Amino acid sequence: MSKPAAVIAIDLPAGLLEDLRRSVTPIVTGPDPAAVDAALPRAEGILCSALLPIDEARLARAPNLKVIANFGVGYNNVDLGAATARGIAVCNTPGVLSGAVADLTMALILAIARRLFENAAYARGGGWSRREPPPPLGWDPAGKTLGIVGFGRIGQAVALRARAFGMEVLYHDLVTAPVDGLEDCRPVPLDELLELADVVSLHVNLDPSTHHLIGAAELARMKPTAWLINTSRGPVVDQAALREALASRAIAGAALDVLDPEPPAADEPLLAMENVIVLPHIGSATVETRAAMRDLAVRNLVAVLTGRTPPACVNPAVLQARP
Ligand code: 8YV
Repeated sequence: MSKPAAVIAIDLPAGLLEDLRRSVTPIVTGPDPAAVDAALPRAEGILCSALLPIDEARLARAPNLKVIANFGVGYNNVDLGAATARGIAVCNTPGVLSGAVADLTMALILAIARRLFENAAYARGGGWSRREPPPPLGWDPAGKTLGIVGFGRIGQAVALRARAFGMEVLYHDLVTAPVDGLEDCRPVPLDELLELADVVSLHVNLDPSTHHLIGAAELARMKPTAWLINTSRGPVVDQAALREALASRAIAGAALDVLDPEPPAADEPLLAMENVIVLPHIGSATVETRAAMRDLAVRNLVAVLTGRTPPACVNPAVLQARP
């Protein structure tokens, strides 16, 4: 029997591709959208990253598609309603990247607190050698309040780290049941979190309910000394409102691993603002985490294409409905 055809729209290491070939025939390998589109009519599965929108137009080109295995926990690049309506399983990679994203978030909190980037620029720029005055003193995270918006796997992993540094943790989520080991983290309404937090960190999925969750009104509630960290998705923040709040110093600064759009235009003002740290979407970018994500994404793809239950599916009802 011939093996199911799959589009592999990310680069996979040779060993993993070889493993994959035992159960699947890759008809495209690599992230070239034109090659992907040309292969969609034959594809029964697609493995792709958040960089490839899987919208109605792409789904219409792929009448044989059974599974979209996303390389990432966020799947806002996929039109979930349209995929579900067509009986296509949508899979993602939860859990394996929570630690890496939480580590990056904690690194940003510490970098902000200790003015790491300003101090490094001062030394590199010769200010220290010229005996110029150094940047102002930083602050201790211990005793400061972290407000976590979205208390799922990643938000909780951030809380664990922040507690170890002595921060008080408030969170806002739809679910407010106490979390084992994090009973001292307090659920609060979003407005209260914004008013009390010294650092606000965003860890929600992007969907219509979280699009522009943080806009002008929310930014206006934050303390003028507070920082906003976004390692979730760019459109969770109204970027125009954020630019305005940062330019007027309504908030102290922002650390952004995600922007809207990505990549940003070369003249995106946030890239040049001195109270902004921009990173190029590196939340999961460690060797170990990316390997675990690839592995899980491949297991999801192969499981659906060989009639088994995938480890992580966001619309499992589609699988149950199959004959
Ligand atoms: C990206 C991510 O998927 O998991 C997510 O939701 O945003 C990232 O891990 C990864 O950078 C590949 O584009």
